[in-house]
Amino acid sequence: MKKLLDLITETMELAFDELGYEKSYAKVSISNRPDLCEFQCNGAMALAKQLKKAPIEIADSIADKLLDNKMFSEVNAVMPGFLNLKLSTDYLADYLVQMSGDPGRYGCERVEKPKTIRIDYGGPNVAKPLHVGHLRSAVIGESIKRMGIFMGNTMIGDVHIGDWGLQMGLIITELKERKPYLPYFNSTFTDEYPTEAPFTISELEEIYPTASKKSKEDEAYKEKAMQATYDLQHGNRGYQALWRHIIKVSVDDLKRNYKRLNVSFELWKGESDAQPYIPEMVRKMKDAGYAYISEGALVVDVKEETDTKEIPPCMILKSDGASLYNTTDLATIVQRVGSYNPNEIIYVVDKRQDLYFTQIFRCAKKTHLVGDDVKLHFLGFGTMNGKDGKPFKTRDGGVMRLETLLSDIEEKMYEKISENQTMDEEDARKTAAQIALSAIKYGDLSNQASKDYIFDIDRFTSFEGNTGPYILYTIVRVKSILNKYQQAGHSIVGIVPGAACSESEKALQLELARFNGVIEAAYAELAPHRICSYIYDLANALNHFYHETKILAEPDAAKQQSYIALLELTRGVLETCIDVLGFTAPERM
Ligand code: ARG
Repeated sequence: MKKLLDLITETMELAFDELGYEKSYAKVSISNRPDLCEFQCNGAMALAKQLKKAPIEIADSIADKLLDNKMFSEVNAVMPGFLNLKLSTDYLADYLVQMSGDPGRYGCERVEKPKTIRIDYGGPNVAKPLHVGHLRSAVIGESIKRMGIFMGNTMIGDVHIGDWGLQMGLIITELKERKPYLPYFNSTFTDEYPTEAPFTISELEEIYPTASKKSKEDEAYKEKAMQATYDLQHGNRGYQALWRHIIKVSVDDLKRNYKRLNVSFELWKGESDAQPYIPEMVRKMKDAGYAYISEGALVVDVKEETDTKEIPPCMILKSDGASLYNTTDLATIVQRVGSYNPNEIIYVVDKRQDLYFTQIFRCAKKTHLVGDDVKLHFLGFGTMNGKDGKPFKTRDGGVMRLETLLSDIEEKMYEKISENQTMDEEDARKTAAQIALSAIKYGDLSNQASKDYIFDIDRFTSFEGNTGPYILYTIVRVKSILNKYQQAGHSIVGIVPGAACSESEKALQLELARFNGVIEAAYAELAPHRICSYIYDLANALNHFYHETKILAEPDAAKQQSYIALLELTRGVLETCIDVLGFTAPERM
């Protein structure tokens, strides 16, 4: 379906055209004075300058032209030359009838040319638990992926785990100190290794920080860890078997955690998967003359003439020939282009890596790892801060595990809903988890991704104000009315064409009609916060309408039917939006 705003602009263009005015001036926007009108066109002012005429004269002539147009109930020319518009209730109702007739999409069309887009939005490291630093990537990335799918694209989410490098050598070294008798450390062992890992996830999460601490204090220990890393990467059979155990145990745990966040990945690739692509990639960069030795290291220049700040060369290999974070990301691009042949790769990563990704993208383009037609997109997000304005920490200043954060908020929600509910324990727990997730995700997504924000648990979990629980509360309210209506033996029909009787009803209808435009714009800008602010407006419009209107007690059956259909459409639009944001609403709360 065409967007309502576009339809109005088209009508306006026609009027301009018929009066001999340049129709590029006919653009219509949502009114910034809702007390005066619903839409406005300010084109007469700019046009007047060009034609050296009084703006009000032009506005008047257009208002005259539109006098009998069925689209509007009011067209007013006001000083100095504004056109204030109100939509006719019939026209609006008709638009909503069409929206209702398209359940699930509500008039939002898919993109004309679907793309294949790979999206990198995980970045956890093995053997380290997910902490709040990983929250934003997961929450924003999942929502962008869902927006992309809704718009008709093929989206391939890749967790891109950090499963390579010194951290693996550290774990192996510490294990060897503790359990030297394991077959993985016996070089004469030629049998199959055990299928069971010699550690649990909790042990692993303790082993890694211990080893990391030791390596900082003990030079010899660090040497051992570096040697173990080298041996692992150069075919030590026992270490490789151990490494597979580490990955397996970590990934199982990560999957469990992401699942609680309602986040999933199509691909569970890691940094290690890119390693086989490195030698060939480096050779090509050297052969083509892009890579050269500078102070011992192999680098590619990526600065451009138009740069206003210094962009240092992209390092490909360290002076000892070892690869680094950059090398892995570049090789990952080779790997990604090689499979699925994407039109675009989106990275949802901490914005402090902005310069780094500028270097990577330029290097990838310059050395032709990707064609010019492939879009590389960095979506950098800001930091999640505590109420003190510093990065979010536990009460004693430690790094907060994501699991702990989730459980704390679930518990808080559970207490809240248990106060005045008759749900059984299991239902209440499930509902609490749903509300908690809405609090966390909406709290995050309602901020522009690139900005830092304050994670305020008290505010985010409130059932009032601009919060996830408020949105869910509104949906539950609507569902409850719809259920009561159906329980009384009625069935829900589509919107009944006809007039909106009250201002609050019309305001709700106008909000609903914005849906396709909002989703389109949010996707174009990769901006989930636009969807959040839309559903907040929509929920407010719904609640206002609800307070002003007798719905279940309405004696006129036709009127009631129309109200109910409007509620059903509101429910559908709200639930579609929160699904795109990555959370769901309960039946009761
Ligand atoms: N594992 C990295 C870290 O902890 C984040 C990875 C982000 N993605 C990427 N393709 N570099 O910082």
